[in-house]
Amino acid sequence: MPSEKSVYPPHPSIARSAHISSFAQYQEMYKRSIERPDEFWGEIAKQFYWETPIDPDNFFKYNFDITKGPIFTKWLDGARTNISYNVLDMNVKRGHGDKVAFYWEGNHPDDYSRLTYKKLLEEVCRCANVLKSKGVQKGDRVAVYMPMILEAVITLLACTRIGAVHSLVFAGFSADNFAERIMDCGARVLVTADGAWRGEKLLQLKVICDQAMVKCAQKGYNIESCIVVSHLGRVMSPMGTHYNANKTPMQEGRDIYWHEIIPEASPSCYPEWVEAEDPMFMLYTSGSTGKPKGVVHTTGGYLLYAATTFKYVFDYKPNDVYWCTADIGWITGHTYVVYGPLANAATSIVYEGTPFYPENDRFWAVIDKYKVNQFYTAPTAIRALMKFGEDLVKKHDLSTLRVLGSVGEPINPEAWLWYYKYVGHEKCSIVDTFWQTETGGHVLTPLPGATPMKPGAASFPFFGVQAVLLDEAGKEIKGEGEGYLVFPQPWPSLMRTLYNDHDRYETTYFTKFPGYYCTGDGAKRDADGYLWVTGRVDDMLNVSGHLMSTAEVESVLTEHPSISEAAVVAKSHPVKGECLYCFVTTNEHGEFDEKLQKELRQLVRERIAPFAMPDVIQNAPGLPKTRSGKIMRRILRKIAAGDRDIGDTSTLADPAVVQQLFATRPITA
Ligand code: WT7
Repeated sequence: MPSEKSVYPPHPSIARSAHISSFAQYQEMYKRSIERPDEFWGEIAKQFYWETPIDPDNFFKYNFDITKGPIFTKWLDGARTNISYNVLDMNVKRGHGDKVAFYWEGNHPDDYSRLTYKKLLEEVCRCANVLKSKGVQKGDRVAVYMPMILEAVITLLACTRIGAVHSLVFAGFSADNFAERIMDCGARVLVTADGAWRGEKLLQLKVICDQAMVKCAQKGYNIESCIVVSHLGRVMSPMGTHYNANKTPMQEGRDIYWHEIIPEASPSCYPEWVEAEDPMFMLYTSGSTGKPKGVVHTTGGYLLYAATTFKYVFDYKPNDVYWCTADIGWITGHTYVVYGPLANAATSIVYEGTPFYPENDRFWAVIDKYKVNQFYTAPTAIRALMKFGEDLVKKHDLSTLRVLGSVGEPINPEAWLWYYKYVGHEKCSIVDTFWQTETGGHVLTPLPGATPMKPGAASFPFFGVQAVLLDEAGKEIKGEGEGYLVFPQPWPSLMRTLYNDHDRYETTYFTKFPGYYCTGDGAKRDADGYLWVTGRVDDMLNVSGHLMSTAEVESVLTEHPSISEAAVVAKSHPVKGECLYCFVTTNEHGEFDEKLQKELRQLVRERIAPFAMPDVIQNAPGLPKTRSGKIMRRILRKIAAGDRDIGDTSTLADPAVVQQLFATRPITA
């Protein structure tokens, strides 16, 4: 097993041809990006189209110090542009009209299609015109709940074309969750599909949207138009037949099929010029209080940063085929399925299915089929696939691969090594990209031709990013050490605010350490200066790369009439990275049995999402609390792990509770 000292230099064949081909070159560019950000980003900005030019005096302004006034970040303020114009029209003008923008690979291997830049532009314009006809104007939010189909990409770009703000919710979230987000962002138009197959599972997306719209209506909130892609009828089901899609109920006057309205719309639509600092999209992420946070990204800086990270981190070259497996519902899908690749006139793959369908070698089969050069996925997928053995990988020709990406959670050295050896044939560079919904793009990452790799280290900051470690007292840790990972300065794509809640933005990210953006993650720096992200330092859990708060799950559990109190902690899991371990205290109505556990799991599934379902639920007649009544999660984490080395318990009101919980720990835990 590789240790912290193991170093894997980029393979000479990769380094030789890379955009950045040595560590010295990275350092030199990095230095310039920090010392002269206006020059560094100004050169990149010149590669894009600005309807109103960039004002050099207004290039970049910010305040991160709450004691000195409101927190803000502005890049290229005053310049006007349109992101869809930049990533579509400009590419067509530059001669990429007939280049494939996206290959679409369906859940069933017999379903596939493609879209050139020229055609994508036309489809986006048609969709934009329809959105306008539905009353969507600049600044309005549009709710999107879509599977991994090309219409999802088209919808996002259509929103940006008319200056509307897309608010996409991952199509794995429950109706309750979706309804809450629709109402929070104030969308009046919703775009969805009737459904999709994920492996052998049928997702009835329109049914979920209907439930969400009913929940909204109960609160007096109405969606005015719902555009529905009829997808199920055009693809193969796992039974090899076409599914009868007519079952989807459509509400007269509100719901309309995509194919009944989009093809008739005009394929040209003049772009709406927006300010660089106008909101471009919002995306909800979990907050530690339970209420989701609507992270807002703006136009100009996001474009620059998505484009630049994509080019350098994946070392993308004009004829490469790139594949990111992330769902479009996460920030990874926004930045590295849609905007980053398109800003580089790239050819990429949108894949609808799972790694396991029809067989457990689907990822490798798709890489082989499209001759993929860059592959970007999550550690949880790698760990799941490792279990099936390397023979499945060896069945396919993966020799076109150059760069392998990892995202969403720390990658354990064992998974890293398997990825390196069997998928990358000890030739590919692995980029372990650390970032967040809030950061908009990669902030810590190796570069394929430049950074000697250490398995599990996100290694060094990207251009324009200064990474600092602070101790509990807020003092900077220079050199080796471990602390809070914070950033003293913004880079172009840092989020600007939380939707309708700038106060929460300031308190969540900028008050713990005045003058710094606080990630909520811990990190350590080794003797060679490499950064290793160690995980969340707050009450957040990361299950298969899905971030959620313990509070969010606890509040759902306590909704059950039999539960008086609940405490949720993370437990490590061999495939998911982390899983949920829940302690519940029943009240006088409740009896802790199989039935109750089933109901609790179902409740979490309904209220949040299937991926949030607890792995373990333990009966806890009492919880370890301090005398002031605060639950000591540190101790609960030890119980979940079965680790009796619990340290100091002198602050506990009733230490006997701990012994009891150890004694009644479920065998399945
Ligand atoms: C949290 C952000 C970034 C897109 C997907 C997740 C964890 C993410 C890594 C990594 C260690 C990582 C952090 C972070 N995380 N990437 N390479 N190494 N941890 O976006 O849902 O906003 O989650 O994911 O804890 O704070 P997100």
